[in-house]
Amino acid sequence: MVDVVLGLQWGDEGKGKIVDVLTPRYDVVARFQGGPNAGHSLEFGGNKYVLNTIPSGIFHAHCINIIGNGVVIDPVQLKKEIEKAMTTGVDIKKNLYISEKAHLILPTHRLVDAASEANKGVHKVGSTLRGISPTYQDKIGRSGLRIGDLLDPNFKEKYTHAIANHKKLLDSFNYDYNLADHEPAFFEAVEFLKQFKIINSEYYINSLIKAGKKILAEGAQGTLLDIDFGSYPFVTSSNTITGGACSGLGIAPQQINKVFGIFKAYCTRVGNGPFPTEQENETGEMLRKLGHEFGATTGRPRRTGWLDLPTLKYAIMLNGVTDLICTKSDVLSGFEEVLVCDGYDINGQKTSEIPFDLSRKDILPLYRSFPGWTGDLTKIRNYQDLPETFKTYMDYVEAQIGVPVNVISVGPDREETIMK
Ligand code: GDP
Ligand code: IMO
Ligand code: MG
Repeated sequence: MVDVVLGLQWGDEGKGKIVDVLTPRYDVVARFQGGPNAGHSLEFGGNKYVLNTIPSGIFHAHCINIIGNGVVIDPVQLKKEIEKAMTTGVDIKKNLYISEKAHLILPTHRLVDAASEANKGVHKVGSTLRGISPTYQDKIGRSGLRIGDLLDPNFKEKYTHAIANHKKLLDSFNYDYNLADHEPAFFEAVEFLKQFKIINSEYYINSLIKAGKKILAEGAQGTLLDIDFGSYPFVTSSNTITGGACSGLGIAPQQINKVFGIFKAYCTRVGNGPFPTEQENETGEMLRKLGHEFGATTGRPRRTGWLDLPTLKYAIMLNGVTDLICTKSDVLSGFEEVLVCDGYDINGQKTSEIPFDLSRKDILPLYRSFPGWTGDLTKIRNYQDLPETFKTYMDYVEAQIGVPVNVISVGPDREETIMK
């Protein structure tokens, strides 16, 4: 049985925290897409951890953690992450499994990412520059290298062949680079990774399913960054939706049971692209400040705005969400009024559907206003104890989207969680 947990907005909804909270119910946590563009934060025991590639179940000793075939892996980044996790006493050699079919981010992928973003001018996506797009391009272009290739005695030859085109591309961009600055660390990391469990993860996961184990598939990014359904071209390069769990882990759709969809009580976005409810004003500043809205991977300030129900409903539809989880409710404490976007006015027409081009300038969000609430929500553990005005707001959201909100997160710590 496989449950899926994923983000319903533009990423950073709190997936790391929620996966960590849910892990005691599961035997396995498996990441199915994305790469080190992700930054998943977990907090417990007074410490904060950020994971980029390792699944967020890693801090639970009983849990098997699998990096699935749909993920793209930067060996240098993963080595750093593993070494850091090991200092906390985590048994990575026992609990981490890596799919032999996951694609490799090569040093040249990162350089090509930087060079092509620099050349995009006003059309910049605002990539994390972790080499994600060039790596997925090579995967789809059938010229990528995979984790399994590391074990091939001819890996260096394969590598040299794979980077030949990247070099041509970098030259065409007149991009100044020196591979010698990157290759030693890359080959050192490649050697380092060989000591871990590199496996055929589709056979392994399906055998675990057969044995009755409980598996939680962990998404990265968010539905509005999905390559097909996100605000294209301001998206990432993978399928972030539930369907991505099937292709990114090698599991059949019938195996999927619950789909936990996470949304923040407001919205944020890092990087460029449309954001209808964005507040480029004092309210937005206050959301950024109170919510500590700065990227876990790049440290960039996150753009902030009000909750957007049309995009949330769209995300719920695409993912088949069965259970909703609302995070960062505590951040809204102290706002005199809280707004929710109910629909859009597009060129005089009211709609709650997402248009082909979400960037069009004539989209006017239609808001409903709710009285705000005050007080520290982070200490509350029972739903009944939450302020009435908060409950009115949440009841409205729930009624509009028609899926129950079962978990309310009221702080970054594991403990700061209300199960309804
Ligand atoms: P992810 O990428 O979806 O895992 O989310 P990030 O870790 O990038 O960003 C979420 C941020 O919000 C992190 O700093 C979390 O520690 C923090 N966070 C998660 N849930 C809550 C919450 O309910 N309240 C507050 N105040 N912070 C939270
Ligand atoms: P988590 O898993 C928020 C955004 C980037 C950029 C676009 C493309 O922590 O939620 P890419 O690096 O994929 O080429 O960037 O997607 N982006 C994220 N935004 N959270 C993430 O991951 C993101 N991963 C990528 O900012 O706009
Ligand atoms: Mg993040």
